[in-house]
Amino acid sequence: MADRRKFLKQFGASVIAGSAISLQGNASESYVEQRRLLVERKFAAADRISIACIGMGIMGQRNVKTALQVPGVELVGVCDLYKGRLDRSRELFGKDIFITQDYKEILNRKDIDAVIIATSDQWHDKISIDAMKAGKAVYCEKPMVHQLNQGWPVINVQKQTGAILQVGSQRVSSVAYAKAKELYKAGEIGQLNCIEASFDRHTAMGAWQYTMPLDASVDSIAWKKYFKDGNSPAFDPKRFFWWRNYKEYGTGVAGDLFVHLLSGIHFLTDSKGPSRIYATGDLGYWKDGRNVPDIMTGVMEYKACKEHPAFQVLLKVNLASGAEKVESGKVKFYGTEGMIDFGWNDFVLYRNKFSPAPGYGGWDAFDTYPLAMQEKIKADYAKKYTGKSIADFPAIKFSAPDGYDDRLDHFINFFDSVRTKKPVVEDASFGFRAAAPCLACNESYFQGKVMHWDGVLMKLTSWQVEKLTS
Ligand SMILES: NC(=O)c1ccc[n+]([C@@H]2O[C@H](COP(=O)([O-])OP(=O)(O)OC[C@H]3O[C@@H](n4cnc5c(N)ncnc54)[C@H](O)[C@@H]3O)[C@@H](O)[C@H]2O)c1
Repeated sequence: MADRRKFLKQFGASVIAGSAISLQGNASESYVEQRRLLVERKFAAADRISIACIGMGIMGQRNVKTALQVPGVELVGVCDLYKGRLDRSRELFGKDIFITQDYKEILNRKDIDAVIIATSDQWHDKISIDAMKAGKAVYCEKPMVHQLNQGWPVINVQKQTGAILQVGSQRVSSVAYAKAKELYKAGEIGQLNCIEASFDRHTAMGAWQYTMPLDASVDSIAWKKYFKDGNSPAFDPKRFFWWRNYKEYGTGVAGDLFVHLLSGIHFLTDSKGPSRIYATGDLGYWKDGRNVPDIMTGVMEYKACKEHPAFQVLLKVNLASGAEKVESGKVKFYGTEGMIDFGWNDFVLYRNKFSPAPGYGGWDAFDTYPLAMQEKIKADYAKKYTGKSIADFPAIKFSAPDGYDDRLDHFINFFDSVRTKKPVVEDASFGFRAAAPCLACNESYFQGKVMHWDGVLMKLTSWQVEKLTS
């Protein structure tokens, strides 16, 4: 009962009644019902899932809090390289949890069923692979990998071990994206031809200059363990706490943020990815020693295939955007007969059918002709088109309830797969297909080249592979 109350509180009673949602159909109600059944399911002792989290920074701590909302999930241990975050983990999750600076100690424990991987990006592939080989189910944060050549090894190990691996792009489990997908598939925006998506930020934190701890040093950080190849440079707290700003550990705005956008796009369209990718960028404002751009634009070409028509994708991240107060980003799907305009977990779908009557006048050649001819054109037009105008279709609005958290849905889906062994909602192939075009944006920016990608085979075209710098 306590779990159910928690669940109902999170969703708001009005949502269960369906009244907070204005849309066609009742998919949202059946969705909420389905979620409630999942939460209400009784768990036997053997159904309890013991988890650990590797990487207990901002996302790791938030992920653990979210995962623990799923009934039957308990935290056994955490791993982080910085001691302050291990102390904080005990403050948050209890003094009895196991703590370590060596993730292998987590993987060696037989009493841990699943691990969340929320380290900086450069470790995602290695820890995922080691965890799957150690028999753990894996929830790995996005981007699934740090380099283009790391995708297949993760996919292969998942296939060999049969391990559950879900990538952490929560849009894939979002009720708003699920509803929009239904409407898109029903043809409500006509034929999709373009998607524009962006993030606009205007703060130091938005540009990844997070608060530094007071004791950052080699005494509080297992500095050597931070480097996969064992070669550690001189201690530099920025490379550790502001890792996103360095391509050696992070994936820049493309891997960090474009990947959220592409995950939503691929989920909605069932696409396997673009065929041509080009990115430009610049480091114009946050010149703090970082070696990745603070503004980037990516253009991607999606070819027609059985899943979708041909469409263009324009992505942009601007970490020094004066627009942030009015517009912190957008995701817009344009079709021939409408447009879906997403907020975070809400959207408006505007419908705009083509008129069978072309119209005349206004910014047109009509009034450039002699008056007698204009009269004749008018009369002909009336004969041909009267009664053929098209009615206005009202917009469709959807909004997830207050407090809705798509990450909780993503974890519910993950733990459901851990328990029932059913396929995850975002597997390694999906994760790589979302990450790879973003990593290709970085390659395009650094090399100044158009990248050619095969989303079905998940490979760069062969002539480009040898030329990769990474
Ligand atoms: N899904 C989302 O919405 C979302 C949002 C933010 C971040 N993320 C992802 O989560 C990950 C973490 O981001 P963050 O903002 O929490 O970073 P963070 O810097 O706050 O935390 C990363 C932590 O990983 C630890 N770490 C690094 N290498 C490690 C290793 N080998 N073993 C153990 N611990 C290690 C560091 O000590 C650090 O505390 C990133 O991959 C990021 O892309 C996802």
